[in-house]
Parts: sequence; structure tokens; C-alpha cells
Amino acid sequence: MAVQAARLVERHKEVYGSTDGIRVFRAPGRVNLIGEHTDYNSGLVLPIALEYACFVVSAPNDAGRLRIRSENNQESRAWPIADVPRQKPSRDWSDYVLGVAVEIHRMGHPLQPVDLLIQSDVPLGAGLSSSAALEVSAALALLRDHSIPPLELARIARRAENNFAGMPCGVMDQYVSVFGQENAAILIDCMTLEHRPVRLPDGIEIAAVNSMVKHELGQSAYRDRVRECGDAVEKIQRRYPNVRSLREIASRELDALEPTIPDAVFRRARHVTSENERVEAFVAACERGDIEEMGKLLVSSHRSLQHDYEVSCPELDFLVDAALAIPGVLGARMTGGGFGGCIVSLMERGRYDEFAESISRAYRQQYGREPEVYRCKPSKGAGEVGKGS
Ligand code: GLA
Repeated sequence: MAVQAARLVERHKEVYGSTDGIRVFRAPGRVNLIGEHTDYNSGLVLPIALEYACFVVSAPNDAGRLRIRSENNQESRAWPIADVPRQKPSRDWSDYVLGVAVEIHRMGHPLQPVDLLIQSDVPLGAGLSSSAALEVSAALALLRDHSIPPLELARIARRAENNFAGMPCGVMDQYVSVFGQENAAILIDCMTLEHRPVRLPDGIEIAAVNSMVKHELGQSAYRDRVRECGDAVEKIQRRYPNVRSLREIASRELDALEPTIPDAVFRRARHVTSENERVEAFVAACERGDIEEMGKLLVSSHRSLQHDYEVSCPELDFLVDAALAIPGVLGARMTGGGFGGCIVSLMERGRYDEFAESISRAYRQQYGREPEVYRCKPSKGAGEVGKGS
């Protein structure tokens, strides 16, 4: 068992006093390489699961309660197990655990009285899916021996986010947290919910740079974009009645409808259709080892998110432009929902240290604050990582 997991087992014993049936579960955060704001449009995404992960230590209790403790927040909560399905959100970290418990119950799986100890090293609020990592690891820790198919695990975690945390996100974050693989990005088709691993060329490294800002607008803008994409589908249906999502129309067909769709709605749709096409082109470039082309596609994705989808912000635009000026950088783009959080940058192997130093200096000079830079190595998806004795 990794040192971190062993330490958490000891901590669980200290906090809850029990020693029987202790098990440790892990679920990773993610960085999305390309395919942004496409998941809730039944589109294509290409994220990687990160080495940064959330760990949940789980043991049964005979107190008939669900008890949870976050080591990150130094806070605890408890409910009688029978009352869990009736709980309402409290708008804090505990919602991601409680929401999962509520969905497990709703899906007809057993809810057992357990004591959970949670610790995450996924940077919080950075757009690297700390919440999905918590949801998926909590689901495993609550279900324990009751195993369910991995796709259902991802779905329960996503439903917790949609229904309990109240965020109308797509399935990308929870899906890759479950299905991530070492050495590969995961191409997810959000229409069929199938995936395949895409091996990354050897000559590259990936970094995420945290702008350390999270603009208020983020949550409401996300809802607006979901609605605008729905509006676009309605307009498209006047010409193509069978189209049910932006996945089902090519950019070329959409362009011909430009005069019949209001400008902002048209640009949102154009981002989504072109982004799906960029994901396919990126995967093809990846498979033939064309790292220059991969970099260029990241930059076009960013420009489309910046100008058509309008979910970037000055800090992210600055970081992308600063990254592109650094030797050895192949491409960069904002990643995740936008309005703050991280950019993801692709560079030639061996350039990481120089990149981290140069981008930090540039950001510090511009904004007077230190960005965090994370090395992004594809890691494996969620699972059990140890048992206590
Ligand atoms: C957030 C959501 C994801 C996805 C991205 C944008 O991370 O949780 O489902 O929509 O934004 O690609």
C-alpha cells in the first residue's frame, strides 16, 4: 500500500476508533486535452486521468450512521443511515459525498452504515475535477463489496453532481476518473458512452498551469451555454428535424444555416461542431506522432472557446499566449469549464522545467501572483488501493 494510503488508515483508526474492515479507495482528477464543452452535447472528449487523486478510507460502523470527515477541510458530518435519502444539499464539500449516497439509494443499491475519512491532493477549484474525484472515490467507499459495472459508477457520480450539487455538467469528469489509464488519454464518445485509450507520442510532456482565479460568472455561464446549445438544436431542427444534439451536425451543414440562427447561438454551436472535428483530428495526429499538428489543434480549440463559446477570461488568454512564446511549446489552451482554473500545454519532452519557470515568471510579472504548475502524467482510473488490518 502506498505511504499516503497507509497514513490515512492510521488516521481513520485515530478518528473513528475502529480497526475492522478498513479499506482504501482512490479516484483521480483529470485534465482535458481537447473536446471542451462537447460532453453535454453528446460529443467527443479526450481527457487524461491525473496522478492527483482523492483517497477515501472506509470501514463499517455499528452506530447505524453515515459518518464522514474531510482531512482537507478538517470538518466532520454524520447522519442516521435511514435519513440519508431525505437530506438536502448544504452547499459545501459534504454535498459530493451525500449526493452520491442519495443516488446509490435511488438506484436501488444498499446503503450501509460506514465511517469515511477523505483526503484529496487534487488542487481544489483549479478545474482539474476535484469534485468528480471525490464523488467517484466516495461511491466506491460507500458501495464497498457491492460491486457495480464501472459505467454505472460514473453515472451515479455524475447524477450526484447534476441532482444534488446542482451543476448540469456532462459525464466527462466522472467517466475518466473511472476509466483512466496509465500512458494513455481516453477518447470518450458521450453519445454511445463508449471509450478507447489513445496512446500519446513519446516525445511530449503535458503541463497544466493554474491561473489561481475562479470568476463568479463560471456557474451561471455554464448553465447559459447548456441552454444556448439546446436553443441551437431547436433552430437546426427546422431544417434537419431528426437532429437531437450538436453531435449530429457537421460544421459544413451548420455554416449553411448561419442566416437562420441568432449570432451568439450560432457561434456556440459552431464551437461545438468544430471542436468535435478537432478531437478527431487530434486523435489522428496523435496516432501518427504528428506533435506539431496536435499543438496547432490545441491553439484552435482555445481560439474557438475564447471567441465563439466565450468561456475564457483575460488570465487564461494571457497564460495561453505566454505559453506559446516559450521555446519547445507545441500548443496550449484553456481546459475545463473556463472563467479561470487551468490551461493545458503540450511541449517537447525535456522542456518541462524551463516551461514551468518561464510561465511562472511571466504570470507573476503580469498579475503579481504565483501560478501553480502541475506535471500531467496519465494515470490509472479509480479503484481499491489497500486494506487496513
Ligand atoms: C466542466 C464539466 C464537464 C465539461 C467541462 C467542459 O468540467 O464538469 O462535464 O462540460 O466543464 O468541457
